[in-house]
Amino acid sequence: MDKIYVELGDRSYPIYIEADFSGLGSALKEAGLCGRVMVVTDSNVGRLYLETCMNELSSAGAQVCSHVFEAGEKSKNLDTVQDIYRQLTAQRFDRGSVIAALGGGVTGDLAGFAAATYMRGISYVQIPTSLLAQADSSIGGKTGVDFEGVKNIVGAFYQPRFVYININTLRTLPLRELRSGLAEVIKHGLIRDAGFFDYIRMNMHKIFGFDETALRHVTKSNCSVKKGVVEQDEKESGLRAILNLGHTFGHAIESVSGFTLLHGECVSIGIAGAFRLAQKMGMVGNAVTEEVEKTLEAAGLPVRASGMDPQRIFAEMLHDKKAKGGKLNFVLPVRIGEVTVRTVEDEKLLMEVLKELVR
Ligand SMILES: NC(=O)c1ccc[n+]([C@@H]2O[C@H](COP(=O)([O-])OP(=O)(O)OC[C@H]3O[C@@H](n4cnc5c(N)ncnc54)[C@H](O)[C@@H]3O)[C@@H](O)[C@H]2O)c1
Ligand SMILES: [Zn+2]
Repeated sequence: MDKIYVELGDRSYPIYIEADFSGLGSALKEAGLCGRVMVVTDSNVGRLYLETCMNELSSAGAQVCSHVFEAGEKSKNLDTVQDIYRQLTAQRFDRGSVIAALGGGVTGDLAGFAAATYMRGISYVQIPTSLLAQADSSIGGKTGVDFEGVKNIVGAFYQPRFVYININTLRTLPLRELRSGLAEVIKHGLIRDAGFFDYIRMNMHKIFGFDETALRHVTKSNCSVKKGVVEQDEKESGLRAILNLGHTFGHAIESVSGFTLLHGECVSIGIAGAFRLAQKMGMVGNAVTEEVEKTLEAAGLPVRASGMDPQRIFAEMLHDKKAKGGKLNFVLPVRIGEVTVRTVEDEKLLMEVLKELVR
């Protein structure tokens, strides 16, 4: 068993890294959570893991019920949150009750937000099942929903009581989702841990083969990077921004693609963009950019938004900039394992990069 602690004073919590769900009940007990538990999950994950999880939680003495919503980002809205509130009130959930978010990032963000707001905050736990959720979204306490077409615009910082990762759930994740999650994993190596980046590069076949030792190592390294950043900057007032490597280009590409590309696929293209921009600014050499692109491609990820209109991507970046307070900020590599945040306003330079990206 591997257990990592996120140290945030009285909001500290453990991350369990396991190969099945058999430790879920004792994790609940260890957190001192007894009362009632509502497992919130989506239609895909519910079919696969809801029964096992409910049984494990019941075995710890909890009174367990479930709430299943239709899988997909389109469910990440206030309507679904209201459905959860309705069930919580109808079943008289009180302040001692718990929400368990079983699923990917959509479930975690949504259920976490319901927990943050019901009765001004009840306990919740994260049981992430997608690679994106295990590597990124389940840790750090960002919860929220989309509103009027704007992603994650309504939300709260609210930390879970524990995170329980069963690495073997990745076996049922659609391959494209697995690859997409790997973009954030590779990103973690690139921003803070060169050794981890090398490990991914050299053990790609083991990751795709669901080798338990490799998946444990990857999960531990991921959690260490994410927790380290969150511990230093819980509410994203500074350092936490480095987690956005590849996201300035990536978000714009995601939006121009009309969300036909997955988030991780856009982040992958965005990482290639960030390295190309840094290269043009004399911050890294050509060989580094090539190595990073080769690794992303080996993970089955795109590094080009072929055929996309670079002007539209640029316009989207400017639009995003306005929404975020007027500066076009980029997380740029200094070397593999270290990044810095720079404001770049040189339109010609950015267009050069974008033209390379859409080739
Ligand atoms: N809170 C944060 O810090 C943070 C960080 C990054 C992303 N996010 C959010 O995360 C969301 C994306 O997360 P995601 O990619 O996990 O999306 P998701 O939750 O929609 O999961 C992707 C798909 O995989 C399915 N799935 C999940 N686990 C499975 C499994 N083990 N087996 C089979 N199918 C499985 C889901 O049903 C869904 O269809 C976005 O809404 C994004 O805004 C949040
Ligand atoms: Zn991301």
